[in-house]
Amino acid sequence: MRVRQAFYDQARFCDQLGSPFTALLCRVLADGLDGSSQIERDILEWPGDPSAFADSVPLRVAGALHDLVRAGRAGELAPLYPPHPMPNAAALLAAARGLLAQHSGFVREFLQFPPQTNEVGRSAALIAGWLEIASRTGLPLSLFEIGSSAGLNLIADRYAYRFGDVPWAPAEDSLPGSGQSFAGLTLRCGWKGRGPALDATLRVQSRRGCDRHPLHLADPAQRERLMAYVWADQPERLERLGAAIRAMLADPVSVETSDAADWIEAVVCPRAEPGVARVVFHSIVWSYLGRPAQERIAEHLARIGGASSAERPLAWLRLELAGKDEPAALRLTMWPGGAEELLARAHPHGAWIRWQDEGGGE
Ligand SMILES: C[S@@+](CC[C@H](N)C(=O)[O-])C[C@H]1O[C@@H](n2cnc3c(N)ncnc32)[C@H](O)[C@@H]1O
Repeated sequence: MRVRQAFYDQARFCDQLGSPFTALLCRVLADGLDGSSQIERDILEWPGDPSAFADSVPLRVAGALHDLVRAGRAGELAPLYPPHPMPNAAALLAAARGLLAQHSGFVREFLQFPPQTNEVGRSAALIAGWLEIASRTGLPLSLFEIGSSAGLNLIADRYAYRFGDVPWAPAEDSLPGSGQSFAGLTLRCGWKGRGPALDATLRVQSRRGCDRHPLHLADPAQRERLMAYVWADQPERLERLGAAIRAMLADPVSVETSDAADWIEAVVCPRAEPGVARVVFHSIVWSYLGRPAQERIAEHLARIGGASSAERPLAWLRLELAGKDEPAALRLTMWPGGAEELLARAHPHGAWIRWQDEGGGE
């Protein structure tokens, strides 16, 4: 019952986030899995919490099926998947159940992994925040990201953007190699409100990230898994993820394996280089950490921030879901000072950004 409900809930989220195909897939699986094969029983009798706020079983199943489709191993299911037209529900259910049974060993192993998304679209909001910090401090940035996944938002300054009608492109000398490899990725997002500080000079002096389960993009299987978790009817997201992966492979940044609170306490330390702004940032990570870790991170940053100065400032930038059915919120706390500001509201995949007024009001 809990698993069926998780599929129905996921279907609703997919509808809201523009994936009618995945919504249909989740609904037919919710209605039609009956436990007549061992793999269906494994899914329906999932031992933990199957919901989107815990194990996200529907996303695991959708990811496994999409992986098989992408690998050309999906037989009768393949012609029912995008870019083909929306399929008949009964045909989709029959083909999906057949494939789950046929590849039960692969699916069982795939289901063990927590779904990993590294949504490059969030780079638009994050880089707007970096530009704001660069503009206010006039300093190069030293970046520290928690919950980096594969680290694709850690290299947000290698992508080009279109904020509404306004373009932003990385400085040639900030790109590894010729810079040509990045030409393919321009992130477009709708923009409302005061513009971001696009004329600020953005210099990234260093970048580090951590994740409890980082994805290593040099491994083709992990790359494919990351692609498979993107919903099959969202070709733009697939395209930009592929382009971002290529940008990362051209000059890799390795993501450290660590728990976020342990890592922050270890790497954000009282001694800091003068003339550099340290920026701790994260996107769609906070709710996974749990209250004790959240408090440890907030207390540590307040302590280090309390000892900061104009030559050694500290910024805490986060793009996190504000509440059920609300857009994400981009918040910034800067020390010295330590006041928290709401910089913007944003679509959780970066489709639009609504920058707040000067006073931080809604
Ligand atoms: C929803 S994903 C977001 C990934 C990335 N920040 C983005 O916006 O695309 C959440 C990430 O947080 C990581 N995570 C969850 N709990 C963590 C913890 N305690 N310490 C470090 N990373 C954690 C997960 O492994 C996952 O990669």
